[in-house]
Amino acid sequence: MTNKYMYFIANWKMYGGLKSLNSLHKVIKFLKDFKKSKYTKVIYCPPSTLIRPMSKKLKKSQIFVGAQNCHQNNDYGAFTGNINSKMLKDVGANFVIIGHSENRFSGDTNNLINKKIKSALKSGLKVIFCIGESLKEKRKKFTKKVLSKQINLGLDKVKNKDKIIIAYEPVWSIGTGIIPKSDELFSTIEFIKKKSQKSKVLYGGSVNPKNISLLKSIRNIDGFLVGGASTDPKKFIDIIKKTYN
Ligand code: PGA
Repeated sequence: MTNKYMYFIANWKMYGGLKSLNSLHKVIKFLKDFKKSKYTKVIYCPPSTLIRPMSKKLKKSQIFVGAQNCHQNNDYGAFTGNINSKMLKDVGANFVIIGHSENRFSGDTNNLINKKIKSALKSGLKVIFCIGESLKEKRKKFTKKVLSKQINLGLDKVKNKDKIIIAYEPVWSIGTGIIPKSDELFSTIEFIKKKSQKSKVLYGGSVNPKNISLLKSIRNIDGFLVGGASTDPKKFIDIIKKTYN
């Protein structure tokens, strides 16, 4: 894996306040001394309230900042409680997660996700596009069908596909401690790469320091989207280190 460029995305979800930013210095220091750091791209996606202070803190580091969602409307408007991609860019975000299953549950359809992706790209953000099947869909052997639909509709008429990274996150794996079987995961990642014509596809769902050795042995994965374990700098550093061991 020495010459491979790997992504490590920290999705803090709705966790963290200003005090949590103190934990970042450990990761900054680690990356500074890390031999493989030029092959390592780390992106922190905190709650929107922390984007500005976090991007200030990470200014001189090699870590990027991303948001966890955005509104589909690129212009300012009467959308109470919402934040658009232009505003995220303005406060220091360079990336945005779109299509996370937790937001699909609360109403993000494939069509809405498509609008959000277009809007984010227009604002100059790079997109971390999440796809994944539910347990019910997996049991019915609908995985490929579901992923195809999410890719087709989500990326419909999207230009600048090179500004998009896909993260495969099976819904049944998120926060459950369960990860897919290695051979299944390899073939699903391969399928996504062919279907989306993307060369970089990440895996997300219960990634932790214990299962990373197994996950990194799946050769076609280009990085990891880490939820729970990313809020603990020790665990996150461990995940990065072990990926290259
Ligand atoms: P998890 O979350 O690592 O806590 O399973 C991953 C995600 O939801 O992006």
